[in-house]
Amino acid sequence: MQKAQSTLLKGLVAGIVLTALLSLLLVLFVAYTGAYNIAASQDDSPFVRWVFSTTMQNSVAARADEVDAPTEFSETQIAAGAEHYKAMCQHCHAGPGVERAEWAQGLLPQPPHLVEEAAHCQPNEVFWLVKHGVRMSAMPAFGETHKDAELWDIAAFVKQLPGMTASEYAALGQQTGTHKH
Ligand code: HEC
Repeated sequence: MQKAQSTLLKGLVAGIVLTALLSLLLVLFVAYTGAYNIAASQDDSPFVRWVFSTTMQNSVAARADEVDAPTEFSETQIAAGAEHYKAMCQHCHAGPGVERAEWAQGLLPQPPHLVEEAAHCQPNEVFWLVKHGVRMSAMPAFGETHKDAELWDIAAFVKQLPGMTASEYAALGQQTGTHKH
């Protein structure tokens, strides 16, 4: 009885080691042969895209949870945020009445239209995303070059985007002159 158990255990261990070795070989095969197509002109398979986007969303949500957002934002903060947005975000994320830049249409993953998508993000998530960016996508990290107060201005503005008209957008952020790019 004991002998049967130990044979089973040995078989199990050998199975696990073999599976790990085969997985490593598969990774090395893909990395060295160029089998995986990384072209931005063609999307990943639906499964790989799902893995990337679900990983990204949950990673942001988990880390943003540790960031306390201010309870309210002033009009001055929103106007300052608009100025940053027009200088640093609009080419990729578009704005009310403004399309993405031509080159940004060739990015994959596509930068989401924040006029719609910002409704699904909490202010602390926008803050975290803008501060740290997203590796392996075109979303840059702005934390090295901007103070937290400026990042909150941007988050405050981004949260105003859903429902904003083109003329409201055009008028915002012209008057403050807080930050030149
Ligand atoms: C060069 C292009 C580029 C620039 C510039 C850029 N982003 Fe992004 N951004 C992206 C891409 C691409 C994604 C999608 C990342 C992903 O899905 O992995 C993204 C994602 C986001 C998201 C998450 C949206 C969602 O629905 O989950 C927010 C919020 C965001 N960006 C805000 C900003 C703000 C604010 C700025 C300016 C301070 C900015 N981004 C500048 C490319 C850009």
